[in-house]
Amino acid sequence: MNNIYFANFKMNLTFAEIEAYVKSLKNLIDLNSNHIGLFVPFTALKQTKDILNGLSILTGAQNVHQEEAGAFTGEINAQMLKECGTDIAIVGHSERRKYFKEKDYEINKKIKQLMKYNIKVVLCIGETKEERTSGNTKKVIYTQLREALAGLYENELDNMIIAYEPVWAIGTGENATNKMIEEVSQIIRQTIKDLYNKNIAEKFPVIYGGSVTVKNIKLLSKIKNINGFLIGGASLNYNTFAEIINEKMKKTANV
Ligand code: PGA
Repeated sequence: MNNIYFANFKMNLTFAEIEAYVKSLKNLIDLNSNHIGLFVPFTALKQTKDILNGLSILTGAQNVHQEEAGAFTGEINAQMLKECGTDIAIVGHSERRKYFKEKDYEINKKIKQLMKYNIKVVLCIGETKEERTSGNTKKVIYTQLREALAGLYENELDNMIIAYEPVWAIGTGENATNKMIEEVSQIIRQTIKDLYNKNIAEKFPVIYGGSVTVKNIKLLSKIKNINGFLIGGASLNYNTFAEIINEKMKKTANV
């Protein structure tokens, strides 16, 4: 799967704003050649699904609780996401790990809940600045992956995409270099090969996220072993998101 462009709205945009966004976005991009997903606030999921009906754009959630149900005030479970029409959900985003202290074993439980309700998963992994400068990137990526995937069967990986999001690059304006992204993508594929097999490792979709903008997308699009992008800040404006998506199309048209 290539040409993946996922927009992570985080805690931004009301449903009215998302509705106007979708109306404009769909006229600016080629929906048949791209895999698009909009990761909206929980409160907008149901209505977003309704307006995306008939368009090939996935309705995404930004998180899920790891338990089936129970006394967890303020939380949302996978069954509730399904009820709102959610197609796909992000787990392990670095902002969740940082501000809500989410751990790999909880992320593993979240993935299992989502799989149970047939919701696709975007698993976010990535190292902090300190981990990179101390030479621990490979170890961190390996550990996050191994713990998040514990107990998952090979066929379940068909419903998963891994997003490499270096923590130091998210929302900072500082993005990873193509070389860094290529290296980590290799580490991810090697880890999947070690945990499962070569076949699944080669076809596994890996996307990059972290300060992707209209300015750097041209360069980032040159990375060979990446299948797309997870975009935060630059996705909040439909024109900018469309420009990012269309950069690859321009390249293809020129070849
Ligand atoms: P950013 O966010 O593009 O604003 O860095 C990416 C993300 O959080 O997924």
